[in-house]
Amino acid sequence: MDAIAELENRVKEREVPKHVGIIMDGNGRWAELRGLPRLEGHREGSNSVREVTRSARRVGLEALTLYAFSSQNWSRPPDEVAGLMELLREYLLKERDEIMGNAIRLNAIGELDKLPRYVKEPLDALRAESATNTGMVLTLALSYGGREELVHAARALAERVASGALKPADIDEAALTGAVWTHDLPPVDLVIRTSGEQRLSNFLLWQTAYSEFVFSPIAWPDFRAREFAEAVLHFQTRERRFGLTGAQLRRAGT
Ligand code: FPP
Repeated sequence: MDAIAELENRVKEREVPKHVGIIMDGNGRWAELRGLPRLEGHREGSNSVREVTRSARRVGLEALTLYAFSSQNWSRPPDEVAGLMELLREYLLKERDEIMGNAIRLNAIGELDKLPRYVKEPLDALRAESATNTGMVLTLALSYGGREELVHAARALAERVASGALKPADIDEAALTGAVWTHDLPPVDLVIRTSGEQRLSNFLLWQTAYSEFVFSPIAWPDFRAREFAEAVLHFQTRERRFGLTGAQLRRAGT
């Protein structure tokens, strides 16, 4: 058995996180260190997307969410934005067989209407084609921001109150969870951020209240199946207490 399969088997022996979110950071620095244009880092990063998605599927995740383009990324130099949009289009066209062959449901969250038509069209087509797949949900966060998402959710709830469909007193955690773009996904168990930075950068603010965080020093283009399995193994050593004491948890488990 190869080393990756061995690591993935170790992951499967323990409780596998249902939902992992990844902040795929460090593409630009990876390229700059090699004297390459930043876009080459993003291109190599899309190979990591393919490898990590395969690994996530093999270990049995229910949901994988990738932070591919933030609301704030629109302010990057126009040629980098255009290059990233081209890469996304390429990915959506080239990965169709991979996604369908692995029973993956492709999902997307964010202000999707801001995406250019040449990205939105293949995205909508693959979302529709894969809608009944039950293997794993792969969510691309595109033109996504956690604050933007919460504003959108607050507005949606306010509109229901204004129309008389909802009472203010009925706005509780479940109502807000139902109003955010991830309403059909399980809570996020683990957030991985690559390339040594240790911040959330407006990613899944509501959904990460009780997430564990694993920060890897590896830049995203070098973060592959091995590094993913190692991050999940690291997560599996954590004790998640959800506000309780360790003693309470041990009593509940016996
Ligand atoms: C952060 O690295 C990464 C991004 C802003 C884009 C992520 C995009 C991809 C991995 C490729 C396309 C995605 C898919 C789903 C095919 P950075 O540029 O901020 O790196 P830096 O901090 O080193 O500059």
